[in-house]
Amino acid sequence: MQIGSLVIPEVAVLAPMAGFTDLNFRLLCKEQGCGLVYTELVSASCLLREVRRSLRLVETDPRERPVGVQLYGADTDQLAEAARWVEEHVPCDLIDLNMGCPVARIVSRGEGAALMREPALVERLVRAVSDAVTLPVSAKIRAGWTDSEINAVEVSRAIEAGGGQAVAIHARTRAQRHEGSVDFSLLAEIKKSVKIPVLGNGGIRDAEGALRMRNETGVDAVMVARGALGNPWIFRHIDEAWHGRVPRMPSQQERLEMLERHLRGCHNSSAQWAQKERERASAEGRAVASMRGHLLQYVSAGGGAREFRRQLNDLHTVDDALYAARAAILNDLDDPLHSVRPIPLSPGATRQ
Ligand SMILES: Cc1cc2nc3c(=O)[nH]c(=O)nc-3n(C[C@H](O)[C@H](O)[C@H](O)COP(=O)(O)O)c2cc1C
Repeated sequence: MQIGSLVIPEVAVLAPMAGFTDLNFRLLCKEQGCGLVYTELVSASCLLREVRRSLRLVETDPRERPVGVQLYGADTDQLAEAARWVEEHVPCDLIDLNMGCPVARIVSRGEGAALMREPALVERLVRAVSDAVTLPVSAKIRAGWTDSEINAVEVSRAIEAGGGQAVAIHARTRAQRHEGSVDFSLLAEIKKSVKIPVLGNGGIRDAEGALRMRNETGVDAVMVARGALGNPWIFRHIDEAWHGRVPRMPSQQERLEMLERHLRGCHNSSAQWAQKERERASAEGRAVASMRGHLLQYVSAGGGAREFRRQLNDLHTVDDALYAARAAILNDLDDPLHSVRPIPLSPGATRQ
């Protein structure tokens, strides 16, 4: 796939996911052969005010490139200004515009998925941003607003007309949020309707699912979101399957090692971004809490999640989280020695 001058040989990319696809996780996916990563969505207006949390969201690393920065907003001047700011301050390869976020707080301001109802504004926004930067510009959209307002073909054409160089489609409507069926026929129709690269998104949980979407729709690349949680290997699996090889599943040991690197990386960056003494003291607890979703998935893939899920909210230190995850994953091997070991709690934590 080629987005403007950006060449992406791999067939699978990582979708942006607020609260999950931070720099640490993106680097792990990249190591496993992910072709392109995106920062989590960030508000154009917050970025221009240089709100500290937004600055953290657009932190990138040379090892993860190519990386796209995803912005949201519905004001042409503000979005263009924010894109210019990104091009100047953030080492990155692509500006992506979010037009699919279903959250009420965002759509009530006419942003995110609300833009699906405004194709003319979509074209103006993409044109304003494309004119403001030299980086390629893309957009991530939905199938439509509701089942009776499916208009992703029209919106994709508007993106292309505005100078957008790629379009990613989460093939569910805003009304579906993140559940329900994914419309492959719509992806195939969009692929036939525009010349820019089309990335298909929605419901991919394994290599087989990725290949099915690619083969049945003809999209240029597949975009994986929740299928990558606690499972950065999915990108290697997709690549292996794409080249006709049988995907090699990670061993329990590899699963534990990846989980530990992820957790420690998350703790380090939480500590790095802590400004005040109080924030530094709570950095570890916040890092473990922010990793809960990933941790559960790392453990679930091995099958030992029931007990771990129960313990999750009581884990406040990296060591406790690692100990509990190790026990849960190794329990899966039916090792009686591991299955009876108690889970230690950090000082101050209470068992419910
Ligand atoms: C927790 C969560 C956070 C998300 N954050 C973003 C985001 O920041 N930007 C975006 O374009 N989409 C976001 N999405 C949507 C995903 O990128 C993707 O479109 C959606 O999850 C469907 O793909 P899946 O079925 O493979 O998970 C988010 C989804 C989830 C579940």
